[in-house]
Order: sequence, then C-alpha cells, then structure tokens
Amino acid sequence: MIEIREIEDSELMDLFHIEQISFLNNYRISTLVDMYGNSSYKFLGIFNRNRIVGYIILLDSIDIYEVIKIAISPNYRKKGLGKKLLNYVLDDLDKNLILEVRVSNKGAINLYESLGFKKINIRKGYYADTGEDGIVYLFSK
Ligand SMILES: CC(C)(COP(=O)(O)OP(=O)(O)OC[C@H]1O[C@@H](n2cnc3c(N)ncnc32)[C@H](O)[C@@H]1OP(=O)(O)O)[C@@H](O)C(=O)NCCC(=O)NCCS
Repeated sequence: MIEIREIEDSELMDLFHIEQISFLNNYRISTLVDMYGNSSYKFLGIFNRNRIVGYIILLDSIDIYEVIKIAISPNYRKKGLGKKLLNYVLDDLDKNLILEVRVSNKGAINLYESLGFKKINIRKGYYADTGEDGIVYLFSK
C-alpha cells in the first residue's frame, strides 16, 4: 500500500540513506536534521507498507515554494512514485513552485515537463562539482 505523509524524525535516517545513494552532492545528516527542525521546510515521504521509499523536501520562501530535493529509492524508480509524490504536492499548491535540475538529469527533466513545469532560466556552470548548467523550472499554480 502506497501512502504519502509527513516524515517523522525517527524516519530521517532512512531518508538520509536514500539521499546518499541518489545524489553526488548529498546533504549531511546534520544538515537534514537542522532543516527538519526549521518550520520553513516541509518533509514529505512516500511509503510502501509504512517503509519510506522516497521523499520530497520543500522550502516555503514566503511568495514561492522551492523543491530542495526529491528522490525515490533506486529499486522503486520508474514505477510512477516520483510523479505521484509531485502530483500530491501540486494538487495542494497555494503558490508557485520552483526547482532546479542538472541539464544531464534527463529522467527528472522528463518528469517535470510531463507535469507542466516550464523552463524559465539556465544557470551557466551552476554545479561546481561537474561544472554543468542548471535549468530552473517553474510550476504556476
Ligand atoms: C527523478 C526521480 C525522482 C524520478 O522518480 P521516479 O519515481 O523514477 O519517476 P516516475 O516513475 O514517477 O516517472 C515519471 C515520468 O518521469 C520520466 N522519467 C522518470 N525517470 C526517467 C528516466 N530514468 N529516464 C527517462 N524518463 C524518466 C518519465 O517521463 C516518466 O513517465 P513515464 O513513466 O510515463 O514514461 C528519480 O529518478 C530519482 O530519485 N533520481 C535520483 C535523484 C534525482 O535526480 N532527483 C531529482 C533532482 S532535481
């Protein structure tokens, strides 16, 4: 059974494991704990039989939301869970949503464009580790 709900602090370590295997530039657990304790950040998880298989971290920046991270555990990818999680957020949106993605991340780009996100900017050489560009996408509510 798939469920989407807010993440509890006892589940942060499991989130961190998905984070570590999903990103080159993963957050430290201490950073995630700090963000979790800050009410401007919202942590939502997608659960299979009450086990976290993906998450999204949103930042409420007063006039806009930003997707800080979204990841699905490798074994659960390409099964529609990333789309389900984002759709859950988009269905409930009371302001616009922005995010940034590496130009090489075709899977994520396909996902965002399939949901109606529009490319609004390119940040040249934004990612210091590889020097690649970042694409900024906007979803207008
Ligand atoms: C990006 C990510 C969250 C997508 O989650 P997912 O659950 O695998 O995506 P879904 O199964 O919901 O896919 C939805 C759509 O996205 C696109 N898509 C997803 N993964 C794709 C891939 N690897 N290649 C091409 N298209 C892909 C497809 O258009 C798909 O629609 P379809 O199934 O009708 O073809 C997941 O691949 C992930 O965790 N990646 C590592 C972390 C990351 O890169 N996060 C994004 C940073 S900006």
